[in-house]
Amino acid sequence: MTMFSFAPLTPDHFPLLHKWMGQPHVWQWWGEGRSWSFHDIQEKYHSYTLGYKIEQGEKKAISPFVVHFQDRPIGFIQAYNAHDFPRGGFYVKDIEQEPSQSIAALDFYIGEPDCIGRGLGAEILKGFLESHVFRYFDACLVDPDKNNKVAIKTYAKANFSTLQELASSIVMIARKEEKKNPIIIFGSARSDGNTLQAIKTVIKDQPIPIVDLKELNIAHYDYSYANAKDDFISLAEKMVRHNPIILATPVYWYSMSALMKTFIDRWSDLLDTRKDIGRRLTNKELYVITSYGESVPRGFEDAFSQTCEYLDMQYKGCYYFYSGDNLELSNGNAPLASEFCEKIFRESPSFMSR
Ligand SMILES: Cc1cc2nc3c(=O)[nH]c(=O)nc-3n(C[C@H](O)[C@H](O)[C@H](O)COP(=O)(O)O)c2cc1C
Repeated sequence: MTMFSFAPLTPDHFPLLHKWMGQPHVWQWWGEGRSWSFHDIQEKYHSYTLGYKIEQGEKKAISPFVVHFQDRPIGFIQAYNAHDFPRGGFYVKDIEQEPSQSIAALDFYIGEPDCIGRGLGAEILKGFLESHVFRYFDACLVDPDKNNKVAIKTYAKANFSTLQELASSIVMIARKEEKKNPIIIFGSARSDGNTLQAIKTVIKDQPIPIVDLKELNIAHYDYSYANAKDDFISLAEKMVRHNPIILATPVYWYSMSALMKTFIDRWSDLLDTRKDIGRRLTNKELYVITSYGESVPRGFEDAFSQTCEYLDMQYKGCYYFYSGDNLELSNGNAPLASEFCEKIFRESPSFMSR
């Protein structure tokens, strides 16, 4: 298993910081256009090792760490309350969507040149958010330079989504999510048929919310958004508060039901008029539950998996519930459901903290 840990910054780390600040790939974004002597590093980071930075004459808390990968120090990461330090080009209070939520900000680099370009950054960030940031804050901001494509890609992989594009930087946010907080969106021509039975076989008596599309008024996609006032947006707002999203549909004519297809067509609204909701789909897990009467149709999952690819969501797989008369196939329903349920609720790996 990949192993990262985070050691609180001490003066013993200053030679490392000095070395890293001299690396072109770090200096380019962190160097402030000047060269850094060892004395400069000592001067800047001394108070950080005591847990604060002086900002406009006041001590503001800051938590700096050296990132270790397989016990070797490879980079630097720090977090603090986003409201405590001015950001370039925006005020945190102006971009807050839910003011009741606490927001951290972080800064991060990998200093060791042989550790860049290996996909470690996103894993480090995810681990740090989980072990150090989301224990205290509801969300976390970063604002990489617009030209720092590597950082932007890495933050996106670590579940940050773009909140705002400014003249020279991009404001991205990651939100603390309930680890597993699924929602089932169910679209069958009958509300009490085989697809509901398929859902129950997977979730048993767990209290997972089920939204029945048949009960809602969700119109077909409309290029002029004339249907903006139907039930779609409120369902989308609810959906993005959950993770994973589980879509449950029967197989009708080798594909998903028309109810489900109409619902998914409307996700286009989230790329256009309601991008704020659409961005929150990034990185969400998507599962599918289906029931079929004859045979599993070829390519049934393609529409779901490609939708996920397009929206930067994670497609996690499909449970096929057989509703026909073949006993051998129906006997497979329960064991496959247990496996599927276990996959939905399996925990992600946790990270070590020093
Ligand atoms: C309109 C319609 C089309 C169907 N097409 C297929 C199909 O292509 N392949 C299949 O295996 N079963 C097909 N079936 C059977 C259903 O997939 C199966 O009975 C399913 O369990 C129904 O779920 P429900 O009770 O939620 O509607 C179809 C059923 C209907 C009503």
